Amino acid sequence: MTNPPPSPHPIRELPDELISQIAAGEVVERPASVLRELLDNALDAGAMQISVRLLAGGVRLISVEDNGWGIAPEQLAVALKRHATSKISNLQDLESVSTMGFRGEALAAIASVSDLSLTSRTHAQPHAMVLQARTGEIHPAAREVGTTVEVQDLFFNTPARRKFLKTDATELAHCLDTVRRHALARPDVGFSIWHEGKSLSQWRAHSGPDAVSLRMSDVLGEPFLTESVRVNFSAGPMRVHGFAGTPAASRARADQQFAYVNGRFVRDKVIAHGVRSAYDDVLHGQRQAVYVLFVEIDPAGVDVNVHPTKIEVRFRDSREVHQAVRTAVDNALALPRLGQTANPNESPLPPSAPRTGSWPQTRLDWSAGHRVAELDALWGAAQPAIAPGGSAQWLQDQPLPPPSRVAPANPFQPSHAEPASALANSAPTDWPLGRALAQLQGIYILAENELGLIVVDMHAAHERVVYERLKTQWDGQGIECQPLLIPASFQASAQEVACVESNPEALHRLGLEISVLSPASLAVRSVPNSLAQGDAVALARSVLEDLQAHGASQVLERARNETLSTMACHSAVRANRRLTIDEMNALLRQMEATERADQCNHGRPTWRQISVAELDALFMRGR
Ligand SMILES: Nc1ncnc2c1ncn2[C@@H]1O[C@H](COP(=O)(O)OP(=O)(O)O)[C@@H](O)[C@H]1O
Ligand SMILES: [Mg+2]
Repeated sequence: MTNPPPSPHPIRELPDELISQIAAGEVVERPASVLRELLDNALDAGAMQISVRLLAGGVRLISVEDNGWGIAPEQLAVALKRHATSKISNLQDLESVSTMGFRGEALAAIASVSDLSLTSRTHAQPHAMVLQARTGEIHPAAREVGTTVEVQDLFFNTPARRKFLKTDATELAHCLDTVRRHALARPDVGFSIWHEGKSLSQWRAHSGPDAVSLRMSDVLGEPFLTESVRVNFSAGPMRVHGFAGTPAASRARADQQFAYVNGRFVRDKVIAHGVRSAYDDVLHGQRQAVYVLFVEIDPAGVDVNVHPTKIEVRFRDSREVHQAVRTAVDNALALPRLGQTANPNESPLPPSAPRTGSWPQTRLDWSAGHRVAELDALWGAAQPAIAPGGSAQWLQDQPLPPPSRVAPANPFQPSHAEPASALANSAPTDWPLGRALAQLQGIYILAENELGLIVVDMHAAHERVVYERLKTQWDGQGIECQPLLIPASFQASAQEVACVESNPEALHRLGLEISVLSPASLAVRSVPNSLAQGDAVALARSVLEDLQAHGASQVLERARNETLSTMACHSAVRANRRLTIDEMNALLRQMEATERADQCNHGRPTWRQISVAELDALFMRGR
């Protein structure tokens, strides 16, 4: 065996310029990445107003002008050096970094692949100075306190990289995305963007409690705001706040998902997954939620130095973050949302109603005085086997009777009764969803509240009410079931029979009792209380189908929501069922008391507000 020949290349240290160009490969991918670094720097310098000017999608020019504290003349050249930063000086600083930058490599990297100039003035200077990075020339210039960085002809000296750039329009779109991300995080800072001399956006600085929502509508448009709910959740030192779009606002693409950790835009799987799982229950299929979420966390609990562009972070306790994000969004989506008015500044709620939190209990629990027989009319194919007995006990001013063995439970069973006179004296505005007026086309309930007209999709709404009740029972005492007066027998396949035989416990937990009559027939003996009026056989069949598809353990763990949702769908009030006014009111009150009542189980809205102003507009009636 012969030894290999000696290496023809001695080991040499790379020249600084080449090191920076290599670093630029990581940090600077396209004009938008330059822009991100320059915006970070401007914000770190305390700027309150930032102007971005672009030529040819940023390929010919990216200019970022800020009114921050500036850079002293003797520091201009230092700022351009590799690993030169004013933001950290030791490992401790790195571990609790609160600035956007800290690696001290952006300006050096950008300067190595473009023609960069740095113009700056501090309070201490009578005028600005400008430094040309290429030549190192420095001379006086005119500008106010602050800094302007101009980056021309990106990648002019690295043609291979330049080839990877897309059309100017695409590069511009990426640049605008970058500005949007920063602008959403800093509503207190004004932003203006120009392309080829034309103004694209001017977002003025906002202050006060509405700053975030005002900026949100600047950047994402008013529909985003009207179709989203406020998120605000704290768990120990961690806080998750922002806005989450309603299912109705969901999109085919994941292009309006903004997540921030301590003010820095990140793409993070933990957060994304936490949000996704909160939407699990209201967003089915491939639809993408829209959201702007800010996670504030102890800087020591997150490592921001895992990616050169800092777009990825690593959490010390990612489960805790996941849980917090999920709970935050889940809670926000669960609250009933009222008044989808176009103006975000206008309170959508009647003045007496709380803006957040659940509705006052006294308003919720109304529904005494409804007779079971009337409420029964709500239900789909009611089983003749079930006698609507016990209705006589449903007298006004009486506490509700406990569900009897034979009497079907009131689908809108309140937690306690209230004098019916309370109903008579109440103004329509006393309830967020108003007072029922009529039923339209056998599908919609029309109601009146202080803002105007409420239109409710009764099947969708009722389905959600039943579904949420099932979930609550499941999580609590277990699903309450009640025996059928006459068991409902049906022809069953061998698989269905086998499924019943092997899953007694799962069925029990789901509130179903099914017995095997013969190798080819089954009988449903009891069903969940809330579903007592539905078609017991259809219900049993679909639950058996789920059990066969997922297996009992899955149904009880992961697929439980799907299964409960299918169950609810079977029982919900069918279209074309005529409701009395009292029944409609009962449903409205139930909706107010139900989490996530704004959407049906398939993510469609259950109700809409049509304001008096909108009605006036329809009739061209000026006020
Ligand atoms: N717009 C600006 N205003 C004031 N100082 C700036 C600005 N941009 C850059 N600097 C200074 O230049 C230094 C180097 O910037 P940079 O290369 O982006 O590194 P980093 O931001 O990681 O510190 C910064 O630490 C800061 O002191
Ligand atoms: Mg920087």
